[in-house]
Amino acid sequence: MEIISNPAQIRRQTQDWRSQGTKIALVPTMGYFHEGHLSLMRYGREIATKLVVSLFVNPAQFGPNEDLARYPRDLDRDAAMAQEVGVDVLYTPPAEAMYPPGYQTYVTVEELSRGLCGASRPGHFRGVATVVLKLLHQVQPHTAIFGEKDYQQLQVIRRLAADLDVPVEIVGRPIVREADGLAMSSRNTYLSPEERASALCLFRAIKAARELVLSGAKSRASILEAVRGIITATPHTNIDYLALVHPETLQELETIQNEARLVLAVWVGKTRLIDNTLLSESRLCCV
Ligand code: PAF
Repeated sequence: MEIISNPAQIRRQTQDWRSQGTKIALVPTMGYFHEGHLSLMRYGREIATKLVVSLFVNPAQFGPNEDLARYPRDLDRDAAMAQEVGVDVLYTPPAEAMYPPGYQTYVTVEELSRGLCGASRPGHFRGVATVVLKLLHQVQPHTAIFGEKDYQQLQVIRRLAADLDVPVEIVGRPIVREADGLAMSSRNTYLSPEERASALCLFRAIKAARELVLSGAKSRASILEAVRGIITATPHTNIDYLALVHPETLQELETIQNEARLVLAVWVGKTRLIDNTLLSESRLCCV
């Protein structure tokens, strides 16, 4: 595995592969890998001949009072894990290369960025959309792979690629959970043992919602009431948002018609966790 930090060098490398007709997949990450990241990489390994993983803790997507400074970082550990999965290039651009002095261009995906995490984290999706567009230009993959845990992010990126005619296939992959159901996240490392136990209420709430829908519940009110009850009964928690939304537009739904997405963001102590699930009248969903 090669580690490349220079945007011009990664572009030369991927242009070279492209000119030979080689299929390239990109997994964009902010590092501190866990099984969720590795599952995206394994999928990339399966579908493409060359696999690039980018590792960049993007300052533009963190608010002034957020966790940019303490976001977990360990390049040696990440490089060893990426190598093990068979990554061809770990792309680690420095912040000065991504946002050099004089940098002033940002991309906003208007509607989709507004609600949910966009409401609690102003500017977050502008930072995500900007960095993802830059990474797509630099790496020029045929396919870019993202996790469904950041469900709103995935919809924002799909819209970005479609609206700006970026010639890339955007693929979303299922959430990977710990054995007890907690969705994997680099931020889980912030949780104390008591908070870690409380954090399970997100998955408990998701399971309860799925069961309600399978037993015939359709209304937003009944589903969110059950979800809210489970979370508010759990110590150390504070709900940021709970919503039942259309899976693509993310518009709030009053009732489930065929399929909806339950999305939630909950503070557990000082850590904000997100999770989501498909709610389907007709199929039992697994993630
Ligand atoms: O999901 C993430 O890790 C980040 O938001 C991403 C897509 C790598 C952009 O910085």
